[in-house]
Amino acid sequence: MKTRHQEGCPAHTVPADPPATQDRRLLTVPLAVAGLAVPGAAVGLLELGWNAPTSRPTVVAIVLSLAILFLGVRICVRQLAAVHAEEHVLLVQDWRRGKARRTVRPGSPGPGRVRARATPGPLVSRPDHERSPGSADIEMVRAAAEEFLELFHAENPQAGPMGPRVAAVMREIDMTGTYWHTAEELTFGARVAWRNNARCIGRLYWRSLQVRDLRTVSDAGAVAGHCFEHLREAHNGGKLRPMISVFAPETPLRPAPRIWNEQLIRYAGYEQPDGRVLGDPRYRTFTSELIRRGWRPPELPGPFDVLPLVVETVEEGPRMFQLPGQAVHEVPLEHPELAWFADLGMRWHAVPVISNNRLDIGGVSYPAAPFNGWYMGTEIGARNLGDSDRYALVPEVAARMGLDTSDEATLWRDQALVEINRAVLHSFRVNGVTITDHHTESRRFLIHLEREERAGRRCPADWSWIVPPMSGSQTPVFHRYYDVEHRVPNFFADDDATRRALEGGPPAFR
Ligand code: ARG
Repeated sequence: MKTRHQEGCPAHTVPADPPATQDRRLLTVPLAVAGLAVPGAAVGLLELGWNAPTSRPTVVAIVLSLAILFLGVRICVRQLAAVHAEEHVLLVQDWRRGKARRTVRPGSPGPGRVRARATPGPLVSRPDHERSPGSADIEMVRAAAEEFLELFHAENPQAGPMGPRVAAVMREIDMTGTYWHTAEELTFGARVAWRNNARCIGRLYWRSLQVRDLRTVSDAGAVAGHCFEHLREAHNGGKLRPMISVFAPETPLRPAPRIWNEQLIRYAGYEQPDGRVLGDPRYRTFTSELIRRGWRPPELPGPFDVLPLVVETVEEGPRMFQLPGQAVHEVPLEHPELAWFADLGMRWHAVPVISNNRLDIGGVSYPAAPFNGWYMGTEIGARNLGDSDRYALVPEVAARMGLDTSDEATLWRDQALVEINRAVLHSFRVNGVTITDHHTESRRFLIHLEREERAGRRCPADWSWIVPPMSGSQTPVFHRYYDVEHRVPNFFADDDATRRALEGGPPAFR
């Protein structure tokens, strides 16, 4: 399994004010006012000789000077009050965030402290020596938000001018540390995250992604319920629909829910006394950890037992939910010619819903945002069933085919692999479940590249992920290089999330 992770974009930083200027700015205005007022008043009083006013201009000078002095003191008091008010906001946020805050990846665009800016809004800059590391996060959120809104408005002219929206979002970030996407921004952001995902060969259909806006859903039971509904809707009677369900975002006030599983449907892997694994060896540790946490596998464990869904929230901790039968659609595998193939008892689930990636849109993180497209046959036939550390089916199929396995040069592995993959494509087809083959999908990907180029965009692609795991050179995607830069919005596989999906912990909130 290829396990390279994409990382957050380090480009999203904006230079902060130099420390000394901020301190100085706080006092400049009152000092200047006092500087004008005090000498003015002194001159007026000297001229009077502390006696009752005699001339009109003198009286005016004194009144004016005192007024300016009063104004100066007022500004000074206001600035100090604002600094304290901001401090209070910060304290409240830190307290509310509680232990969850410790789990945020350093440098992630997640929760950060609010640093108010000097110009707009009711708050002013804090003295720099009091700035927390979190203020860098806020600058990143601001910069990422602005970059995203620019993209959104450039590609969606019907949304109107971006100026007012950017100003409103900046104010919201300054006050809360984050902001709420409009439904249109969310939909566009999720689709572009797919478009930007360098590992996906199936991006031609990025515009067709259906976005389920579930941002108000944050408790574990409701998250699980909507995930099961997602599986039903995405399956759509076999005519698969690319779909994403976006649950509550990460905010400074409340960390988002986490789904531990790598996909909504995954098969258990049971370690046997002889060291072999029944089921999917990729999830052997995950499986034993869930059993330790109280999951009860079927009485007679088998190679395709669907694991429970684990949803963790800061209030509830990790909770497990058994998937209802109607949510799990599977395809039993048979071969178009080799009748014995069905006796192997192989099957696979119809809908691949990746559920542990973090969706990042314009500086807002959605750690729980499961999404699916449809399978390309090689994912199942060449990798899940073919890899020697997964179901490792090749030797058995080769033996049943009667191939000469005594010599690698007979290419018995390659021959068996082709038949497994034919069985996958054939079975999905006869069961009326959407699937695609690697030749067709490679051609479609090149069409996608061409379209992106014509739209004036660069399309990042990772050769090692795009080229199919069999017959690479027979597909056109093999014979060229790609842009490799990372773009946002995107989906990210954070290390913590990957660990939870494979090792069943540690929990995000402890
Ligand atoms: N390779 C993964 C699997 O075999 C699925 C990844 C997503 N694939 C997709 N076609 N959307 O389950």
